[in-house]
Amino acid sequence: MIKQAIIPLAGLGTRLLPLTSVFAKELLPINGKPGIEYILEECVNSGIKEIIFIISKKKEIIKKYFYNDKFYKKIIKQKKDSRIKEEYKKILKYKKMIKFVYQDKPLGTGDAVLKTKKLIKDNYFLMLLPDDLIIKNNCSKSMIKVHKKYKSSVMASMNVKKKNVSRWGIFKLRKKLDKNNSLIDDVIEKPSVKSAPSNKAVIGRYILPKKIFTKLLKQKPGKGGEIHITDTIQSLINDREKFIAHNFSGKYLDCGTMNGYIQSTIKIAKI
Ligand code: UTP
Repeated sequence: MIKQAIIPLAGLGTRLLPLTSVFAKELLPINGKPGIEYILEECVNSGIKEIIFIISKKKEIIKKYFYNDKFYKKIIKQKKDSRIKEEYKKILKYKKMIKFVYQDKPLGTGDAVLKTKKLIKDNYFLMLLPDDLIIKNNCSKSMIKVHKKYKSSVMASMNVKKKNVSRWGIFKLRKKLDKNNSLIDDVIEKPSVKSAPSNKAVIGRYILPKKIFTKLLKQKPGKGGEIHITDTIQSLINDREKFIAHNFSGKYLDCGTMNGYIQSTIKIAKI
């Protein structure tokens, strides 16, 4: 069973500047609710029991969001507002599930994952990238089912326009296992249009094996000088670890860019 999830939150969020110069993008409201709460709901509804947040000193506002008890208790006493009580209850529920670890420097997603090494208990765990919202269908829940069926690692996959492949990690597939699942041969970080083996992109949901930590300890920086988790995944695939690309059925919203963030708000509000 997959019981633990990790969420890397220690990036700089430069694409959402100037907002991110003083604020964590994951707390920005999407239709009145911080983006991170959509991710937490997805975790809870897929049976996750413990969630590890990887933050940095610059992102401590995220921890504060869940640890503002004194403030809530005082306000609830003064105002007796049932809405505030309910919101506080929800925050307390999440707080009980969340552990925090720190990544001092944003050296890349691979380095962020490595910070959770001591806390991962089982052979597989879930990772969610909070910029990638998937609505209308619980992608993590579907992926956990795929993991159970095939006893392997899983990554969320989506078809993107061929001209946009250089914005994503792109899969080369080996063979189709069933309608929505295929075995992966390669995953290439941000390939050129010419060199891309397909238009199937990695989206921010991963079921990873615990053995990835041994590889991460030796992982050298890749494109842009960052330690990319996709490079480590490729190294595991080279060692014959089975990885499946899962074509998910929910709707993907990219909240990591200004335009994407605005569009996400509009789309969620329309549901
Ligand atoms: P991205 O590189 O896509 O986003 O990281 P970013 O760094 O937050 O923002 P930009 O690119 O500067 O606009 C994907 C996810 O991995 C986390 C980020 O917080 C984001 O959730 N991350 C990235 C880390 O936790 N540590 C890192 O060193 C890099």
